[in-house]
Amino acid sequence: MFGISLRKTRLTFIIGVILIVNIFCLLSISLQNVMTWRYSSSQLYLTAMSRDESIFNTTLNPAVQLKLQNMKNDLNDSKFTNGDMFPAHRIGGYIMIDPDLCRRSDVLDIIVVVHTAPANLARRQRIRDTFGNEANFLPFHVRVAFLLGRTENRTLERMLWFEHATYNDTVMGDFLDDYHNLSLKGVMGYRWASQYCVNSKFVLKIDDDVIINMYKLLYSFYSHMSGKRKSIFCNLWYKNTMPILRTGKWKVEPHVFSKHKTYPYDYCSGFVVIMTTDLMGPMYQAAMTTPFFWIDDVYLFGMLPNVVGGVTYYNYALDKNMTLKENLATECTKTQGPRCPIFASIVNDKNYTSLWNTIKEIYASSSWHVDNKLVT
Ligand SMILES: *[C@@H]1O[C@H](CO)[C@@H](O)[C@H](O)[C@H]1NC(C)=O
Ligand SMILES: *[C@@H]1O[C@H](CO)[C@@H](O)[C@H](O)[C@H]1NC(C)=O
Ligand SMILES: *[C@@H]1O[C@H](CO)[C@@H](O)[C@H](O)[C@H]1NC(C)=O
Ligand SMILES: *[C@@H]1O[C@H](CO)[C@@H](O)[C@H](O)[C@H]1NC(C)=O
Ligand SMILES: *[C@@H]1O[C@H](CO)[C@@H](O)[C@H](O)[C@H]1NC(C)=O
Ligand SMILES: *[C@@H]1O[C@H](CO)[C@@H](O)[C@H](O)[C@H]1NC(C)=O
Ligand SMILES: *[C@@H]1O[C@H](CO)[C@@H](O)[C@H](O)[C@H]1NC(C)=O
Repeated sequence: MFGISLRKTRLTFIIGVILIVNIFCLLSISLQNVMTWRYSSSQLYLTAMSRDESIFNTTLNPAVQLKLQNMKNDLNDSKFTNGDMFPAHRIGGYIMIDPDLCRRSDVLDIIVVVHTAPANLARRQRIRDTFGNEANFLPFHVRVAFLLGRTENRTLERMLWFEHATYNDTVMGDFLDDYHNLSLKGVMGYRWASQYCVNSKFVLKIDDDVIINMYKLLYSFYSHMSGKRKSIFCNLWYKNTMPILRTGKWKVEPHVFSKHKTYPYDYCSGFVVIMTTDLMGPMYQAAMTTPFFWIDDVYLFGMLPNVVGGVTYYNYALDKNMTLKENLATECTKTQGPRCPIFASIVNDKNYTSLWNTIKEIYASSSWHVDNKLVT
């Protein structure tokens, strides 16, 4: 009796052990599965990343490598020459985006990409209501996207989500919105346009205090711009002419570009820059290996095109085709009408409506309607 009971207990014990070992094995197999699955998905991610880099490596010919090495030496800023710190890696994902903004038309003529600060709601609204309103310019197709960084002001953040839900035209990246981060905003713009807006012929980058005479741009500049590739139309600052400022808001630290008094690249006044859309992908790719420099005009329209190579600049000169002086723009538009060669100006908030009304009176009048013009 006792012996049988003991044998039974031993049997139960053995079965129990076998069961436990089995369960353990099963568990560890499935655990391993989970782990390999996770491992392989991160492998996938890595492969995708390095494929990205290797596309780039194949285009990194010795001449480009030399350019990059010279840039690194000139910048002499170790904190920004580590690959992880290159702008393409610092902009993060999109916090706000409407992937269909451009795709709602088959073809766009111009996507206007506005660098705007989160608090400037009124400036964004007036752009939507004036030169950003496609209905004014049909049969041309124009659209606007507003580029933002993150804000730490919760009230403002809520307002931005509301604005996004209402208009679907804001693109927010995962970096702090700050003027020291404007180069990041621009690189986000290059990435965004190359991902979601390749159906546009041109990308027009502006600041939010700019007014564009979109009629003038479409009716007379457009034919000049058409058919060109890898081109930038802007007020051009020629290399070795523009002083590197060492004081003030745009001060560059003394150890950066220390051997230069002037910038060694052609670049643009960044308030109004038109680019052919074929440049967007290459510019973004260049931002994967071009070390960060925070002055966005120099980085976005000088250093990156320099690394891309083969870019042609067309000079739409300051005070000839665009201006920082609104009085000049107003006078020129009023006195010369459609023959005024200025299509863009910075404008004081107070004068915006009046200048837009002047433009609209000239171009939207019946004699200047789109069917009977296209004058240079
Ligand atoms: C790309 O180039 C870098 C630096 O030259 C090198 O370290 C890296 O291994 C290359 N990557 C690939 C995928 O070829
Ligand atoms: C946050 O943003 C709102 C809306 O622009 C503004 O009224 C408020 O002053 C801001 N708060 C701070 C602390 O800046
Ligand atoms: C914004 O885009 C989303 C997703 O594409 C869509 O559901 C929504 O209706 C759009 N809203 C407006 C105001 O266009
Ligand atoms: C730029 O953005 C980065 C990432 O969000 C942030 O860490 C940094 O503080 C920002 N720079 C400035 C000057 O705000
Ligand atoms: C590079 O920067 C360091 C400080 O970060 C400075 O000591 C050095 O002189 C600089 N080199 C050049 C060539 O400007
Ligand atoms: C730019 O302005 C100049 C000088 O006023 C003018 O001659 C030229 O035609 C303008 N460019 C274009 C493309 O209209
Ligand atoms: C624009 O506004 C400023 C300041 O309010 C004023 O002095 C200037 O005359 C205005 N310019 C035009 C062209 O209306």
